[in-house]
Amino acid sequence: MLQAIKYHEGRLEILDQLQLPFVEKYIPIQTAEDGWHAIKEMKVRGAPAIAIVAMLALSAELSTFSAADQIPQAAKETHEFIAKKLDYLVTSRPTAVNLSDAVRKLRSLVTDRASQSGSTGHDVAAAFMQAAEDMLGKDLEDNQKIGNNGAEWILAHAAKSEDSQVTVLTHCNTGSLATSGYGTALGVVRSLATKHILRHAYCTETRPYNQGSRLTAFELVHDSIPATLITDSMAAALLADSRAGVNAIVVGADRVAANGDTANKIGTYGLAVLAKHHGVKFLVAAPLTTIDLATKAGEDIIIEERPATEVTSIKGPREGTGTDSLTLDTVRIAAPGINVWNPAFDITPSTLIDGIITEVGVLEKGDDGQYHMGGLFDNQA
Ligand code: MRU
Repeated sequence: MLQAIKYHEGRLEILDQLQLPFVEKYIPIQTAEDGWHAIKEMKVRGAPAIAIVAMLALSAELSTFSAADQIPQAAKETHEFIAKKLDYLVTSRPTAVNLSDAVRKLRSLVTDRASQSGSTGHDVAAAFMQAAEDMLGKDLEDNQKIGNNGAEWILAHAAKSEDSQVTVLTHCNTGSLATSGYGTALGVVRSLATKHILRHAYCTETRPYNQGSRLTAFELVHDSIPATLITDSMAAALLADSRAGVNAIVVGADRVAANGDTANKIGTYGLAVLAKHHGVKFLVAAPLTTIDLATKAGEDIIIEERPATEVTSIKGPREGTGTDSLTLDTVRIAAPGINVWNPAFDITPSTLIDGIITEVGVLEKGDDGQYHMGGLFDNQA
């Protein structure tokens, strides 16, 4: 399986996603600053992956200090150092809640550890590093459960009675490259394929940054999953085409509000509207860490706006480069002088979502037509 994040005993490497699908190159991340830049510059992307890389980047830095015997003796000092780095890391990208959730949880953990009597700076750093590493393993396990839950739900609710296979459409990249492995929405596709329930998967190009054509398509080819790439503008025609026979659309999420409204890659909302029109099931797949009970509704979610050049230009490999090192050339494709609006995400209202697939099950709306998210967190630590 593809691995976007490699971590072993304080050494962190990430697959540089700016070079994909042309070159598979891992780059070292040694400090919180390295992590911040990798996230901001989209060398790593996808809500769960961003959170994990941020925490492991700080772990790598603490590990170097620890090896050089430079961790402050006093628990309070180490706690302050970690808290400052967390404040910095959380500023790298605003929309995905997984990052702020990880920061909140690990901050609280180090605060507790530092307040225990007899705690040393080393104890606090060790507690942080262990918790960050645990996040990596837990995310992978959760994704496998999401994949399984989603595949079973789709077979039970979206397959035609006479048919034992389904065709799905997915958007953006939600696979191994966007998580610690397996993926969320693409994990559902993977699980359908493993269970031999998948007839075909369609993935959108996902303009303007092309996560679909560059990353999802790369993963689908890598795993030999039967799949076809479409441009975003072809989705309506695809759903109208009975030969394609799309049963369900499955997407990931950057933040799910308490009422089920979901922020995800720009274009998701349009797909949900199309799904409703064509009577196709529309599902959001996300771990509990993406559900933000503190945000009441979609209108409260801050949507990141990205540079105009992502819309006005495309990037491609310079001829003759691309085996082990790559030079990307940027080519302008839009008329000079035109204004650009480039929101990275949009909000899909919960009314358009048929189910939220998580590691603890698939949540559907209650009899009142509303999502009651709180129940998902019963029995959670
Ligand atoms: O801007 P990106 O590439 O980080 O956006 C990624 C997405 O929007 C994904 O669909 C989302 O984070 C779900 S990740 C499993």
